[in-house]
Amino acid sequence: MTRRTIVAGNWKLNKTIAETRRLIQLFRNRLAGIDTRATVLVCPPTVAIETAVDAAKGSAVGIGAQNVFWEPGGAFTGEVSVPMLEAAGVEFVLIGHSERRSIFGETDAEVNRKLKAVLGGDLTPIVCVGESLEEREAGRTEEVVRRQVETGLSEVAPDHAHRLVLAYEPVWAIGTGRTATPEMANEVHRLIRGRLVDMFGGRSADGISILYGGSVKAENAASLMAETDIDGVLVGGASLDAESFTEIVRSAP
Ligand code: PGA
Repeated sequence: MTRRTIVAGNWKLNKTIAETRRLIQLFRNRLAGIDTRATVLVCPPTVAIETAVDAAKGSAVGIGAQNVFWEPGGAFTGEVSVPMLEAAGVEFVLIGHSERRSIFGETDAEVNRKLKAVLGGDLTPIVCVGESLEEREAGRTEEVVRRQVETGLSEVAPDHAHRLVLAYEPVWAIGTGRTATPEMANEVHRLIRGRLVDMFGGRSADGISILYGGSVKAENAASLMAETDIDGVLVGGASLDAESFTEIVRSAP
C-alpha cells in the first residue's frame, strides 16, 4: 500500500496573529511554485488558528492544532475542544507532543482519551511518541515507545486505523540540532509499525503514515524520508522560516 507523505510544521509557542498571516502568505506563495505529492500542514498557536485557516484558504496548506482536550465543552478553563477546532476549519491535531508530556505532565492515558475524542469527529490526529535521552541510554527505547503506542492507541476501533498518523520524535533530538540518523529512526519506525500490525492487522498498519521529528532541516529531510518506514516529517524550528520549510517540502519523495 502506498502511504501518504506528510510534511507538518509545528510552530509551538511562536508567532502572533499578524505574524501567522504573513508567514502563511510567504509559505503558500513559495509552495505554489513547487510540484509535490506531499500533504503539507502547519500548526500555529491556538489564538492564531482562525487567521491561519483564512490565510491558507485556496492553497495546498492544511492547518493543524497543537493540542486538544477530550471533552466537547464545559467547565474546563484554558482548554479547546474538538468541535471548536472543527468549526474553525482545522483539519489536523497533534496529540501527546513530548513537550506536552514533559512540561505539562500529559500521560499515555490522557493521550488515549484525546485520541478517542478526535476520532469521534473528523480531525486527523498526529500522535507523537519518543524516548528521552536517559531512556535511550538505558536501552529502553523499544519498551518506552511500545508502551506509548499500546496505551496511547488502545481501544481505537480497527475501522478508524486508516485515519491515524503517528510521529516518532526522540526527545533528545527535539530542538537540540542532534538528529537521529535515518537508519536509527527507521529502526524505531519499523518497531512502531510492528506494533500497529499487532493492533490493527497488516493491511491497516501498512497504510498508517509514521513521521519523524527532531531537528529536521532542509539538509537532512531527504535522507530521512528516503527510508522505507519514514513517511514524512514533523518540523519545529525549521518550519518558522518559509524558505527552509519549502525546501523540506521540496525534498519529500
Ligand atoms: P525541532 O522540533 O524540529 O525544532 O527539533 C520538532 C518538534 O518538536 O516537533
